[in-house]
Amino acid sequence: MKTYIVGNWKLNFTVGEASVYLHKLLQKLPNYRDVEVVVAPSTMALQPLSLQVDRHKIKLAAQNAFYRDYGAYTGETSFTQLYGVVDYCIIGHSERRYLFGEDDKMIAKKVEAAIRNKITPILCIGETESERAFGETADVIRDQLIGGLREVSEEDLDKVIVAYEPVWAISSAKSAKLASPDDVDEVVKLIRKTIEELYGKEAAENMPVLFGGSVNPSNAGGYLTVPGVNGLLAGSSSLILSQFIDIIDVAKRVQR
Ligand code: PGA
Repeated sequence: MKTYIVGNWKLNFTVGEASVYLHKLLQKLPNYRDVEVVVAPSTMALQPLSLQVDRHKIKLAAQNAFYRDYGAYTGETSFTQLYGVVDYCIIGHSERRYLFGEDDKMIAKKVEAAIRNKITPILCIGETESERAFGETADVIRDQLIGGLREVSEEDLDKVIVAYEPVWAISSAKSAKLASPDDVDEVVKLIRKTIEELYGKEAAENMPVLFGGSVNPSNAGGYLTVPGVNGLLAGSSSLILSQFIDIIDVAKRVQR
């Protein structure tokens, strides 16, 4: 299986800055066939960057989109509009859940709309610090996973990527802590077990599962060697070109 390295730029970079970054990344990045490099710029930059990008080297992801294709939904962008512009879409990121009130029901509809429009959803799930403190991690992970995949049929499951992002480990969290590879191992096992119960063993083995939360070039190798981790979702370190390239290099080196 490929290793996925996804850079989530969140609300950073003007269109011009994003374009310069992409230009430099394209110049510096060797063509690693078995590492899928994905960047997720803000919506404004997607269209111009889609004309600039070399899709053999780098793919684009949206950070969010709405599940209706068109209509009276002021301020939204649909997956239909993103069709052909991006290959992936991050869905259910904790910032969408907690700052913008997205629940599993809405996230499930977005996952379905992404697949319908031939965009691969990267479904983010993860427990908050207090849920972890109360020993609720396993319940939260199972609920978010089952909830987010509610509309995905067995035959479409191979079009989904899951990203485990413990909210307490994301760099923007007030007192962000680093997740240990053991923390990640435990939850990734639970994710695969849950998928196995829902969709069978083969589906569970084949589903790409990524990890995200304060990933940087020094800890990337540790996370990537956790069995069952197929890639990383990097936020703040992906904003620094040299760090993002270093993470991609680590992925190339530790490839199984
Ligand atoms: P971080 O963000 O790498 O800055 O912790 C990751 C994410 O929120 O996807």
